[in-house]
Amino acid sequence: MRILFLDQSGKSGGAELCLIDIAKPYKDSCLVGLFADGDFRKKLEQNQIPVQVLNTQTIKVSKESSLLQGLKSLSQLIPLILKVAQIARKYDLIYANTQKALVIGALASFFTRRPLVYHLHDILSPEHFSSTNRHLAVFLANHFASLVIANSQASKTAFIAAGGNGKITEVVYNGFDCNKYHIQHSEVKKLRQNLGTKSQFIIGHFSRLAPWKGQHILIEALANCPENVTAILVGDALFGEQDYVQQLHQQVETLKLSKRVKFLGFRDDIPQLMAACDLVTHTSTAAEPFGRVIVEAMLSQKPVIAAKAGGAMELIEHGVNGFLSTPENPQELAEIIINCCQNREKTLEIAHHACTTASQRFDVNNINQQIAKLLFTLKK
Ligand code: UDP
Ligand code: GLC
Repeated sequence: MRILFLDQSGKSGGAELCLIDIAKPYKDSCLVGLFADGDFRKKLEQNQIPVQVLNTQTIKVSKESSLLQGLKSLSQLIPLILKVAQIARKYDLIYANTQKALVIGALASFFTRRPLVYHLHDILSPEHFSSTNRHLAVFLANHFASLVIANSQASKTAFIAAGGNGKITEVVYNGFDCNKYHIQHSEVKKLRQNLGTKSQFIIGHFSRLAPWKGQHILIEALANCPENVTAILVGDALFGEQDYVQQLHQQVETLKLSKRVKFLGFRDDIPQLMAACDLVTHTSTAAEPFGRVIVEAMLSQKPVIAAKAGGAMELIEHGVNGFLSTPENPQELAEIIINCCQNREKTLEIAHHACTTASQRFDVNNINQQIAKLLFTLKK
């Protein structure tokens, strides 16, 4: 099947990393069209997935944009729409992986009569999106898409609550290559030495630095944990959240945690870094649509504590394959962390169980088969 995938980002966020795994089986006959250049393009190339940057101008619309701002950017979009429509004629279907890709993909689908699939990686709720953005996404999906793939039941529910058509919406979780998360003990030992925290209890936080990812909650929790508990914050501000980065550094200084918190920036060796941790936390303050890092922690056989909302609640059963903590509650988070430190054996049992079940539930081959089945029904 010839698929034209569309994604607005040049940066490697979770939706983009997910797309690499989805596009891989189609690499001999697909194209990923990006609306911005960046390291995501390089990752696609490393995976031998054909990619083309279709737009060199930044599209100035954000999650909070109003109708007026959206309309202003329309003139900028016309050449892109024409280009995508021209390319789409050579493909059997258009697969929009982000919201701006949905806008362009919907119009290209209309002009070329190619079926449109929208992969919904977001929770379309007021806490994440402006009313204009929610209405636009729902309108375009309902009128132009033949299929909406939601990355969790939580994303599907929010889509329907916003007016989305549930009849064309299917939930498919992200898939993972589980073998990537088996790391040699010697490598882990070396990495822990390099981190300079050989004998301590290391908590890992693996998310882009953004207020709603809640790194500040972990820092506050850490201040309520014993001295030997340290944290690594892995990730960078991908979408210009520099004020938040400064705020985090300031918080670490104020709480006198400089020796216990390390900022590692954006890294490509996530499985290795996870293997070097004793525990992984996820602290989003707004409902997480899916939460790749949660599954990655499970596959790394690390106990994981996640914020109890959105997709995370579909991934974790508290005390069975991980732990759930009330969002924005650093005291509760600290208590669970301390409990994990004190009950290492029981916690490791939970992590082991999580790894076994996650390896089956999120196996990339199974997930790709689910997607292939759905796409097959759409092929003309
Ligand atoms: N990630 C990464 N390098 C980093 C931080 C994060 O490659 O420095 C990856 C992480 O392993 C995960 C993805 O980025 O696969 C983030 O996806 P998630 O669904 O957790 O959150 P998103 O950022 O997409 O909202
Ligand atoms: C988005 C969501 C994240 C999800 C990822 C992959 O980036 O914010 O929760 O895991 O897409 O579906």
